[in-house]
Amino acid sequence: MRGVSPAHVNPGGLAPRMLWWIACRRIVSVRSRFRRLLPFVIGGLVVLVVAIQLVPYGRPTPNPPVRREPSWDSPRTRELAVRACFDCHSNQTQYPWYSYVAPASWLVNKDIHEARSKMNFSEWDLIQREAQAAPEQIEKGDMPLWFYIPLHPEARLSAEERAALIHGIEATFAADRPRRR
Ligand code: HEC
Repeated sequence: MRGVSPAHVNPGGLAPRMLWWIACRRIVSVRSRFRRLLPFVIGGLVVLVVAIQLVPYGRPTPNPPVRREPSWDSPRTRELAVRACFDCHSNQTQYPWYSYVAPASWLVNKDIHEARSKMNFSEWDLIQREAQAAPEQIEKGDMPLWFYIPLHPEARLSAEERAALIHGIEATFAADRPRRR
């Protein structure tokens, strides 16, 4: 009878079907090999995550003392700046839990260090290298940094709040200039 053995049903289709079968076997064997290796992969990752916590870099350091804040033009300006800028641009950083856990801690603490070196609202008696750019940075939406906002929803400013902060910072800087030298 025709059609009993695959070779007779469709001789032309035999090679592709064998290839398919081999491919399936391969996937199954790769899968089961992976399943056997999985505990080692997970164990290795755990060891790696624990090990990088020991790297003595990028850990939160205690906030330095507040030396002097600018003479804010209004409490509202300060309040908006606290919400949107102070975690990075002041010595009153509130460190979130993940700032203690590498590798997030490396990024967070590098950003804070860099941000303070450009403008620090807690050290207004010292040189402020880039403070003059603040209104423009807010206007362009460059500050606060984009990834900070989903993590700190209170830092999201409405259009009205953003305009108020820009105006307030301009007024504050005009009366109490950021030191250049
Ligand atoms: C999550 C941390 C973070 C927050 C919040 C943040 N900044 Fe920054 N800021 C940085 C970092 C990091 C830099 C330096 C790197 C850069 O210029 O992008 C910086 C740089 C700046 C500079 C200097 C830009 C230049 O030309 O070099 C200004 C001005 C500034 N920020 C203003 C602000 C203001 C105003 C706010 C609040 C509305 C704010 N930042 C909020 C991290 C932050």
